[in-house]
Amino acid sequence: TYIIAEPCVDVLDKACIEECPVDCIYEGNRMLYIHPDECVDCGACEPVCPVEAIFYEDDVPDQWKEYTGANYEFFEDLGSPGGASKVGKISKDAPFVAAQPPRGG
Ligand code: F3S
Ligand code: F3S
Repeated sequence: TYIIAEPCVDVLDKACIEECPVDCIYEGNRMLYIHPDECVDCGACEPVCPVEAIFYEDDVPDQWKEYTGANYEFFEDLGSPGGASKVGKISKDAPFVAAQPPRGG
């Protein structure tokens, strides 16, 4: 899967959403999250993020490794909705993300 990391927090540009062929990028309160089971690793989202927040799972920089867990954790109580557009914004964040200090954006 691909992972969204810290640069997305409080930015939420959403350019990535338009690129994903399987609609697996879900919106939380403070960032977006890629569904680890629904992502088909096409990589189309990665180059379009203006703040370079998206990484292949194995390539997440060390200082942002906790975002890998956060992307998984976000979906623990949601299962596999099978499409972000029909779900819309989900009013929560992974606990690690919710605890981050506000970021300028
Ligand atoms: Fe976030 Fe970048 Fe997408 S800022 S919403 S990961 S385009
Ligand atoms: Fe979609 Fe990006 Fe995965 S475009 S399929 S979330 S690599």
